[in-house]
Amino acid sequence: MIPNSLMKDISIGIIGGGLMGREMASAFARWCAMADVTVRPVLTAVADLNPATLDWFKIIPSCTQLVTDYHALLANPAIDVVYVAVPHHLHEKIYLDVLAAGKDLFAEKPFGIDLPAAERILAAVKSSGRFVRCSSEMPFFPGAQRAFSIARGGEIGRVLEVVSGFHHSSDLDPTKPANWKRRNVTCGEGGVLNDLGMHACHVPLRLGWKPQRLFAQLQKGYPTRPDGQGGTTPCDTWDNASLSTWCSIAGQEVPLRLEMKRLAPGATNTWFIEILGTDGGVRFSTAEPKTLWIFERGKEQWWKRTELGFGTPFKTVTGGIFEPGFPDVIQQMWAAFLMERAGQLDGRFGCATPEEAVATHEIFAAALRSQAQGSVVAVPA
Ligand SMILES: NC(=O)c1ccc[n+]([C@@H]2O[C@H](COP(=O)([O-])OP(=O)(O)OC[C@H]3O[C@@H](n4cnc5c(N)ncnc54)[C@H](O)[C@@H]3O)[C@@H](O)[C@H]2O)c1
Repeated sequence: MIPNSLMKDISIGIIGGGLMGREMASAFARWCAMADVTVRPVLTAVADLNPATLDWFKIIPSCTQLVTDYHALLANPAIDVVYVAVPHHLHEKIYLDVLAAGKDLFAEKPFGIDLPAAERILAAVKSSGRFVRCSSEMPFFPGAQRAFSIARGGEIGRVLEVVSGFHHSSDLDPTKPANWKRRNVTCGEGGVLNDLGMHACHVPLRLGWKPQRLFAQLQKGYPTRPDGQGGTTPCDTWDNASLSTWCSIAGQEVPLRLEMKRLAPGATNTWFIEILGTDGGVRFSTAEPKTLWIFERGKEQWWKRTELGFGTPFKTVTGGIFEPGFPDVIQQMWAAFLMERAGQLDGRFGCATPEEAVATHEIFAAALRSQAQGSVVAVPA
């Protein structure tokens, strides 16, 4: 066990203190749970346009710089790493400003509003030499980690098919007011692809399973919603996406289905993956956060169920039989980011790379082309 007092402090600034900005701040505040990392994030500054949003951060003693103009945060020489969680149309400008200020960057997905923006960000990352990763926390669930290592280990034989997805249902309620995620101008033409696509693509991409061609079925939700001020406002984003793709695994063409849905009845932030092979298979869903299903082919065929408990990649003070949740995997993702930045990842699962983020956008752009043409399209290699 490494005590917090021996960890190296890393000063963090957050740009965008909304839903995700607060989630990250609370993960830092509970860092005493971490037992085998050598680094500790210390929230130093937050920038948000909304002064009322900044007020929430006053409960964090180390967070002494609260500003409405993010340039003031970037000018703070004490800050090592900047995490940015703002609407998608602002990603490119703010990410480039962070890099130009000489800071390392933990970027939110989708890493730019579209493929050209993501490519420009990647070029800036390369020329800056800064350490940059993209947020994608779901693979840090113990069940997802096991699914990844089973798939990588090859014990399931020839892979027959893969399904990876992310479902929620908050858009089913027509009275839910629209926010920036319901408009193409702020969320991007990709809509739900931009919103949930990284979650579905991250593990397949890390396994080297990038789609080579795909057919997309995209669906819109309600065309208007309350605007939160007594009126209504148009909503033009794609809300559901099912991508039937083909990827190459061990020289075989394998169907890989990617599902991203904001209109999935009954689902609340449900991330899932299923990988089936000729000799075995594995299935995990955050709907059952400590449960892993493993298929074994023998004389009889078995789906075996086990309860994994708290087998996270980075050890914590939490008892091994307890169940993990969203705030835990957010903290694990930060541990991976900071330990990889320190050169101490030691073979553990790393955060999504800028190259993987660009690859997701190549998939999303192909999906938009497929939907427009009604045909199968190629995805750039
Ligand atoms: N990893 C995940 O699971 C996950 C979940 C939700 C959202 N996200 C991503 O996080 C990002 C933010 O989403 P959110 O749900 O937190 O949004 P949000 O609307 O809750 O928060 C965005 C914040 O950015 C602030 N902001 C806007 N323009 C700004 C500017 N110029 N300077 C400083 N602050 C500014 C807003 O005032 C707001 O507080 C998006 O990229 C989204 O895709 C990731």
